[in-house]
Amino acid sequence: AFSASAATEMPPLPEVKGEKVEADGNFKIKFSIGTTESGAQYRGLEYFEKIVEQRSDGNIQVELFPGAQLGDDRQATSALQSGTLEMTMPSTSPLVNMFPEFAVFDLPFLFPQPEMADAVLDGEIGQQMLEDASSQGLVAIGWGENGYRQLTNSQHPVEEPADLDGLKIRTMENDLHLDIWRTLGANPTPMSFAELFTALEQGVVDGQENPWITIESSKFNEVQDYATETNHVYTPFITLVSARFWDRLPEDYQQLLRDAATEMGDYQRHVSRTLNDQIKQDLKDSGMQITELTPEQVKVFQDKLEPVYEDWRDQIGGELIDDIRAQV
Ligand code: PAF
Repeated sequence: AFSASAATEMPPLPEVKGEKVEADGNFKIKFSIGTTESGAQYRGLEYFEKIVEQRSDGNIQVELFPGAQLGDDRQATSALQSGTLEMTMPSTSPLVNMFPEFAVFDLPFLFPQPEMADAVLDGEIGQQMLEDASSQGLVAIGWGENGYRQLTNSQHPVEEPADLDGLKIRTMENDLHLDIWRTLGANPTPMSFAELFTALEQGVVDGQENPWITIESSKFNEVQDYATETNHVYTPFITLVSARFWDRLPEDYQQLLRDAATEMGDYQRHVSRTLNDQIKQDLKDSGMQITELTPEQVKVFQDKLEPVYEDWRDQIGGELIDDIRAQV
């Protein structure tokens, strides 16, 4: 495979609306994420930066650190807890040890459409989860989208679970994801995202799974010839602030950050969805062989994964699962 050609064309950053917020003090936010500068998440952060700097009249400065340069999702989250970093926006999956209910989003094929994820995250359940996650040294102020995860590998096309037999797949550090890939017959290994490109390049693992936009922005197509559009899990991003930093902010600036996080979340989801198909096409053009499954082929994966729902029910909470399934 050779690398994708043109850089991804991002939708323009919206104008910042809303009044300036008057409050005392000057503040600096270092904001770290795992995905790279050419992804949709970073575009969302650029909008967040613009909103916060304009509305605070420059009193809050935001500095962006993409590509896990300050650590992966877990490391950045613990840096928030110790107060050495102000903000991050991890996938929910690596945080389930801290917040067990997040595992609900790791259930396979939970949200058939992205709008169903929006309804849950922006509705009562999601808002309650933000409150619950505002503990352990963190303040959770918004949702975004990592998106539907797709499988890539260096060995051969994958059309059915049998094709996964023995394939070494990197997963996020999350037991439910391990369970999914074991149940499908693969040989999964949890690994930090920061180590993933090298592990794929050196053949330590054969494959990984992430949304198209992350596959492209991390150049995984340079080391993975095959992809399958599985859409097996929809992963949210959660916007987190260090409680140590938060407690130093005037209330008006806390509200400014909450508003900016909500606006970023809406815009970032829009960017992610707008680019999804274009990027899949770019990846095909770059020489990646992409298998698009028929609904019948998807059903084979779904049926095989149905036991995962029963096995995780008690741990996640049956009521939460039922509440969400009643909405989708
Ligand atoms: O694969 C992962 O670890 C996550 O999807 C990523 C890319 C770090 C975003 O949170």
